[in-house]
Amino acid sequence: MPGLLLGDEFPNFEAETTIGRIKFHDFLGSSWGILFSHPKDFTPVCTTELACAARISDEFKKRGVKMIALSIDSVEDHRNWSKDVMAFNSEAESALPFPIIADDKRVLAVQLGMLDPDERDKEGMALTARCVFVVGPDKKLKLSILYPATTGRNFDEILRVIDSLQLTAQKKVATPVDWKPGDKVMVIPSLSEAEAAALFPNGVTTQDVPSGKKYLRYTKL
Ligand code: BEZ
Repeated sequence: MPGLLLGDEFPNFEAETTIGRIKFHDFLGSSWGILFSHPKDFTPVCTTELACAARISDEFKKRGVKMIALSIDSVEDHRNWSKDVMAFNSEAESALPFPIIADDKRVLAVQLGMLDPDERDKEGMALTARCVFVVGPDKKLKLSILYPATTGRNFDEILRVIDSLQLTAQKKVATPVDWKPGDKVMVIPSLSEAEAAALFPNGVTTQDVPSGKKYLRYTKL
């Protein structure tokens, strides 16, 4: 079963892109990175997604996350499609603010387990699913989400997840359901009461539950 597990080093692949040939780790440098794949150029859902990603690219920049897309067509197709995407955003004069990898031989799609067997092109070849990979500055995989080709992603959720990943990489906390930056966070179960008291000067509140177990511990950062 191809694919990557959380904590695995992300492959340092080489690929042709709309900004030339890259080696992925060099492209990332010391930044966080997001690689998001698309089934095909010049397709409707993909166009809305790339356009959204372009509109909110400053939000990724603010978080120190380098963006790169992937689709299984050529650099030339990607360059032409990028013009459609920016026109869709009513920004026809601007360039797409991130590169697109040309995976026309499906090498990365296979290596990274990104093919969607239910969606095929005219020749019957499987298209890429909508993968999201978030890679940390240590080049390790921090998050992967896999959507089928027929379901477009929610980029607000992707930014929310990145906020959680970046916070929980720094502090011994976890973020609860529907958490947003500024909300209370949860103390991770492996911390003792004494350790939690020392680490969180704003205090730790514990919600009582019928089991009597003190595991629902919140703090404000
Ligand atoms: C789309 O981007 O619209 C799309 C691509 C492949 C299958 C279904 C939809």
